[in-house]
Amino acid sequence: MNTPLSALRRILCIGGGPAGLYFGLLMKRRYPDLQVTVVERNRPFDTFGWGVVFSDQTLQNLKRADPESAQQMADAFNHWDDIEVFYKDHSVRSTGHGFIGIGRKRLLNILQERCLALGVDLVFETDVTDDQALAQQYNADLVIASDGLNSRIRTRYEATYRPDIDTRKCRFVWLGTKKTFDAFTFAFEQTEHGWFQAHAYKFDDQTSTFIVETPEDVWQAHGIEQMSQEDGVAFCERLFAKYLDGNPLISNAKHLRGSANWIRFPRVICQTWVHWQDVAGKQTPIVLMGDAAHTAHFSIGSGTKLALEDAIDLADEFSGAAGRSESMAEVLQGYEARRSVEVLKIQNAARNSTEWFENVDRYTGMDIQQFAYSLLTRSQRISHENLRLRDPQWLEGYEAWLEAHNPHAPPLRVSLPPEGADPAWGGPAPDRAARHPTPPMLLPLTVRGLTLKNRIVVSPMAQYSATDGVAGDWHLVHLGARALGGAALVMVEMTSPTPEGRITPGCTGLWNYAQEVALRRIVDFVHSSSSARIGIQLGHSGAKGSTQLGWEQIDEPLPSPGGRPDSSPNWPLLSASAVPYGPQNQVPRAMTRADMDAMTAAFVESTRRAAAAGFDWLELHCAHGYLLSAFICPLTNQRTDDYGGSLENRCRYPLEVFSAVRAAWPADQPMSVRISAHDWAPGGNTPDDAVAIARLFKAAGCDVIDVSSGQTTRQARPVYGRMYQTPFADRVRNEAGILTMAVGAITEADHANSIIGAGRADLCAVARAHLADPAWTLHEAAKLQTRAIDWPRPYESGRDQIYREIARQQSLQAAQASPGETA
Ligand SMILES: Cc1cc2nc3c(=O)[nH]c(=O)nc-3n(C[C@H](O)[C@H](O)[C@H](O)COP(=O)(O)OP(=O)(O)OC[C@H]3O[C@@H](n4cnc5c(N)ncnc54)[C@H](O)[C@@H]3O)c2cc1C
Ligand SMILES: Cc1cc2nc3c(=O)[nH]c(=O)nc-3n(C[C@H](O)[C@H](O)[C@H](O)COP(=O)(O)O)c2cc1C
Repeated sequence: MNTPLSALRRILCIGGGPAGLYFGLLMKRRYPDLQVTVVERNRPFDTFGWGVVFSDQTLQNLKRADPESAQQMADAFNHWDDIEVFYKDHSVRSTGHGFIGIGRKRLLNILQERCLALGVDLVFETDVTDDQALAQQYNADLVIASDGLNSRIRTRYEATYRPDIDTRKCRFVWLGTKKTFDAFTFAFEQTEHGWFQAHAYKFDDQTSTFIVETPEDVWQAHGIEQMSQEDGVAFCERLFAKYLDGNPLISNAKHLRGSANWIRFPRVICQTWVHWQDVAGKQTPIVLMGDAAHTAHFSIGSGTKLALEDAIDLADEFSGAAGRSESMAEVLQGYEARRSVEVLKIQNAARNSTEWFENVDRYTGMDIQQFAYSLLTRSQRISHENLRLRDPQWLEGYEAWLEAHNPHAPPLRVSLPPEGADPAWGGPAPDRAARHPTPPMLLPLTVRGLTLKNRIVVSPMAQYSATDGVAGDWHLVHLGARALGGAALVMVEMTSPTPEGRITPGCTGLWNYAQEVALRRIVDFVHSSSSARIGIQLGHSGAKGSTQLGWEQIDEPLPSPGGRPDSSPNWPLLSASAVPYGPQNQVPRAMTRADMDAMTAAFVESTRRAAAAGFDWLELHCAHGYLLSAFICPLTNQRTDDYGGSLENRCRYPLEVFSAVRAAWPADQPMSVRISAHDWAPGGNTPDDAVAIARLFKAAGCDVIDVSSGQTTRQARPVYGRMYQTPFADRVRNEAGILTMAVGAITEADHANSIIGAGRADLCAVARAHLADPAWTLHEAAKLQTRAIDWPRPYESGRDQIYREIARQQSLQAAQASPGETA
């Protein structure tokens, strides 16, 4: 395994698809003395599939790696800029997307010819059944497993590679047609059993790819599984006839029988990419590349790009290591480390895109405008501002449409200070282009009798700065500053209805008059000096109570002074079941019926106090493993009574509390419920459960589900990333039909605009970014140079300066369009 690089003489690539051919030619180009062989089971001109799509960006990478083949590809590419979406007899077309398409056969032939020109040995019509025997035959020092999606080599060494294969929900068939589409076309057709979609694009002068896709149950309901291949194709022709202008759909998978040409996409991830095998006494690395290592759903158009970029990166690792006397193992480790991160990013985006197409019916309540916007931004990689760069006119038209069709607009535009407001409350910002429509995140939202001036919420954040549960000056300044900072709603941290329900001794409470008065002072400031509204989150810590301040050992019990157990400051805990949060945490006592009644009464009492303090919004905290969340989560609820077992039973007590609180809270004021939409742990709640939970709270009168996730068990393994919880908010909103608040790694206006624009959520809660910048919303709006936001009057000269400064910076930076991704 410490083989020096100088020992690399012979490379064997098993599988002559884009990955194997391209790696072969790149290595031969850089190291002409190497002997490189690519072994392929097909003949040179045989191939499955039709065309593939790249972005313009991919072509740049190829030009750098091998200008000769890149030029040939560039000559063969069909370039187009438009995406057109057909849905419910309407269509929407936008431009600036920058795609290139090429026939797969043409691509392979270019790579094959280039291989031959450089001296790579191409061996066709050889189906490799034993890679070790072949490695021995060629005396290979490096074997590349580029044998595609169903890689035999990956299966053989699966103990090393540890592949994770997720077979997705839709069936799809890859067809072609002589109808030449002049835009990347997405066509949606509804049948009596559900939705079908076609992804179509031209890849040469006479031919287009035409992929038809539908969820497995819809496919089954139409009996396609029992059809012959011809009948299945004829079914698609009838369904999509209006797009085909009489041209037939053509299959080139004639070797497959019946419906075998319809497959379910397997998403492949491998834990490791390099297997070392003793081949005739020589430790030989067998390295995954391309689809054998990973797949990304075709709707993101990146499979071939990833395969080619794997090849480029491994070749680059070799070139980079040459001067550093690294071993072969180090080079391969570098390749795996670099590529797995890149692939993970693309797979995250591909997952969002795959799920969008698997759940088209979730979005079919939308008008075509929003449906198309949701489709274009489905991967969360293409954002609002990316769309502006691509097609500013279309985007502005969409913003205007959204503003005109805002279903939650107040009866009158909110631009007046709230009644009794201090004269310091200011007016709108200057606007470079006052005619521009309001960005989605600054559209008002009316819920019950309350109008929020925009869609940004300061997420509840514990400050650990209260004394005996009483909010102090810190809270006044902290919350007051954020109320002046442009957000529409400022939430007070989780506040407990009982002393024992606090997470830490520094957490706020609302069980006595002193606490109510202290909070009223803050509410009064917000109401009198800002145009923001203020809400409070009520919650009981349950098994996660009696722990240290956030900046100490978070979630761990309070230390005893001098380490003496008899002087422990910890207080006893209550939860759904006697399940401790961690090995150091106390075992809580499972609540009895009497405990439940007393707790409900305490929540109601706090609610009355919150109303008396003047709060505009109330949120019930049913997330993050605290008391009510511990009932909902199956990992922390082991009850055998009416409050444990099924999801309905687990939600019963939180719903009892919700109903009691709702009854005590003013009828014209909104209530939200924060849930953990995903426990991120085996046996825990999943986003499917989140939809069911949301439906139950909706039926009980909840207005908004605040969709968070995790923190219910220490076993959780969340997958983080920008806006990582937003897909759950999207699901809940569009399946349960309730307003949602998205939260989690929303850090830019661009994120919030995309979320609101696509109808993934109705509000965006921003937490940590608000710790760094109390005026996050004002500053993000200044970057957009929009006037649809009000500044406090004493800050107006600061406003004018920042608008000018940003305008100056923006005019210096030439707006660089970055088109080039399909999703
Ligand atoms: C419907 C559909 C649409 C797609 N659209 C796009 C798109 O628009 N853009 C895009 O970038 N990608 C697209 N892809 C994905 C793309 O085709 C693959 O990601 C890409 O081809 C991967 O390249 P590869 O070299 O790793 O694997 P492959 O192209 O699968 O090549 C593997 C090669 O290994 C050979 N082989 C396998 N086993 C053996 C063996 N035992 N012995 C010898 N030879 C063997 C195979 O014959 C094959 O030639 C699409 C895929 C599908 C299914
Ligand atoms: C310091 C801090 C305290 C928090 N306290 C609470 C809280 O009291 N209630 C709650 O529901 N979430 C709380 N959270 C979680 C945030 O509200 C938010 O969900 C999370 O930080 C993700 O959003 P972000 O990526 O914008 O930070 C807290 C987060 C931080 C950073």
